[in-house]
Amino acid sequence: MTQAPRPGPPLWLLAELTYRCPLHCVFCFNPVDFAQRDSELGTEDWLRVLREGRALGAVQCGLSGGEPLLREDLETIVAEASRLGYYSNLLTSGVGLSTQRAAALKAAGLDHVQLSFQDSTREMNDFLSHTRTFDLKSRVARIIRDQGWPMVLNVVLHRMNIGHIERIIAMAHAMGAEYLELANTQYYSWALVNRAHLLPTHEQLRHAEEVTNAWRARLGERMRIFFVAPDYHEGRAKKCVNGWGSMFLTVAPDGTALPCHTARMLPGLEFPNVRAHGLREIWFDSEGFNRFRGTAWMQEPCASCAQREQDLGGCRCQAYLLAGDAAAADPACAKNPEHHRVQQAVRQAAERVPEHPLVFRDRANSRRLTPGA
Ligand code: FES
Repeated sequence: MTQAPRPGPPLWLLAELTYRCPLHCVFCFNPVDFAQRDSELGTEDWLRVLREGRALGAVQCGLSGGEPLLREDLETIVAEASRLGYYSNLLTSGVGLSTQRAAALKAAGLDHVQLSFQDSTREMNDFLSHTRTFDLKSRVARIIRDQGWPMVLNVVLHRMNIGHIERIIAMAHAMGAEYLELANTQYYSWALVNRAHLLPTHEQLRHAEEVTNAWRARLGERMRIFFVAPDYHEGRAKKCVNGWGSMFLTVAPDGTALPCHTARMLPGLEFPNVRAHGLREIWFDSEGFNRFRGTAWMQEPCASCAQREQDLGGCRCQAYLLAGDAAAADPACAKNPEHHRVQQAVRQAAERVPEHPLVFRDRANSRRLTPGA
């Protein structure tokens, strides 16, 4: 195989500090087998990872989980990120962000907080997360504003909340959000388990986009709304993680370094651990990061496709999950002979009542769904 092109530095270092989380979201992007992976890097290891990431050239640092506020050393980690000159982002459910903790994180230099809501209604928010957190999140939104952080809200969209789109945007506006990310569900991990419940119809999506565009026209720059389009409905593959090993370097709680947060499930690929390898070596030289860089690895129909530089073959994890081959074209693409799998899933979700109940993300379900666990 032709060698993968030498990449530039990663723009983002994504530190998944823990898989522990008080919520039980049905679309959680953490691995379904998270309960098998309890090990977490200690504080010193995270500080070293931050230093190595910055030396490599990363400028953005995402602190996520699970719920990163469950780490008692979060302030120490944030302070080091700030000292190193990263722009730091905390991605949180809000659980654990008291006024005191927010002040400590601000003093440590945290630049940005992204708060997730599951819905604009208490009933659906609390149902989808299997926790009573709607009122808490509303209080946390005020705490974020009081600290002077930009107000950034994130809502994952799917069939169970997309009908509330008008209310979701109005809620974000009323809370004084500067940015609202409406992220259509990506079907990996827990969302794939629950796909029959979560896939919206074409009509629901069209309506949601119309409502979003009407609000955009009304609010202009006062609140920027990002509508992350769903690849299942578009017939086009997305340039996942902006290209494998090109922008994001994710470090899982146990120290495994990954080009995307679900890549560990791909068979036949080894991903190095930061306990044993430096980030520079991992980024430039590891087999796992090089395997799907560029276009040389592609099979047909991607190899001769005029779009191959634009979408870079789509998502490797989705190709594996839906077509059984991580090197195959992404079935979201209409040019792929396997595209009927995606169309069938959308059609069935619209026509049939799901055969199994929703599966909430928790340790018992993780063990139940993990083969051999
Ligand atoms: Fe892994 Fe798209 S989520 S490559």
